[in-house]
Amino acid sequence: MKISDATISFLLRQSVPTITWNQSFIFSHALHVEKIALRLGENLGLSAQDLAILSWGCILHDIGKFSLPQTFFEQTILSINDYKEIKRHPGLGYIALREIDFNREALEIVLYHHERFDGLGYPFGLKGKEIPLNTRICSLADSFEVMLWGRNYQKNKTYQEALDDIAANSGTQFDPELVVHFINLFG
Ligand SMILES: [Fe+2]
Ligand SMILES: [Fe+2]
Repeated sequence: MKISDATISFLLRQSVPTITWNQSFIFSHALHVEKIALRLGENLGLSAQDLAILSWGCILHDIGKFSLPQTFFEQTILSINDYKEIKRHPGLGYIALREIDFNREALEIVLYHHERFDGLGYPFGLKGKEIPLNTRICSLADSFEVMLWGRNYQKNKTYQEALDDIAANSGTQFDPELVVHFINLFG
């Protein structure tokens, strides 16, 4: 998968001039997620092409957060309305990246990364294997990262607590087949 110069310059123009300290965690989070997802993807034997798609999708999965008011990243308590706003970020990221020459499967990761295996995720409530494999991998890595590093509004868990949480949500939030691989790899 090739990322065009237009894509890279778009991303830099979108994010770098406006980035604040509170938003910079979006990048570190994205890089952690990418690393975790690639290890899982390699373990699953994904092709080089799929690993490249996974990599770009993970790096950009939360880019829609740059389109939200930055106060969301400073708060320690979030209201129901705040959560509602934040839930717009997959769609906002999709809209921003759709404008440019961005790989369609990587774009699916951005749009679907908060879908859940049991169909209770957002924005569409996709279920099971309706959610593309690369996206299911990214979602698992995304949740694990948030548990380990925490957020302003959410205390971090220990490594073992995070693994237990992944196992406890197998078949509900996460693809159970992927959870088996994940626990074998990281447990
Ligand atoms: Fe997200
Ligand atoms: Fe994320």
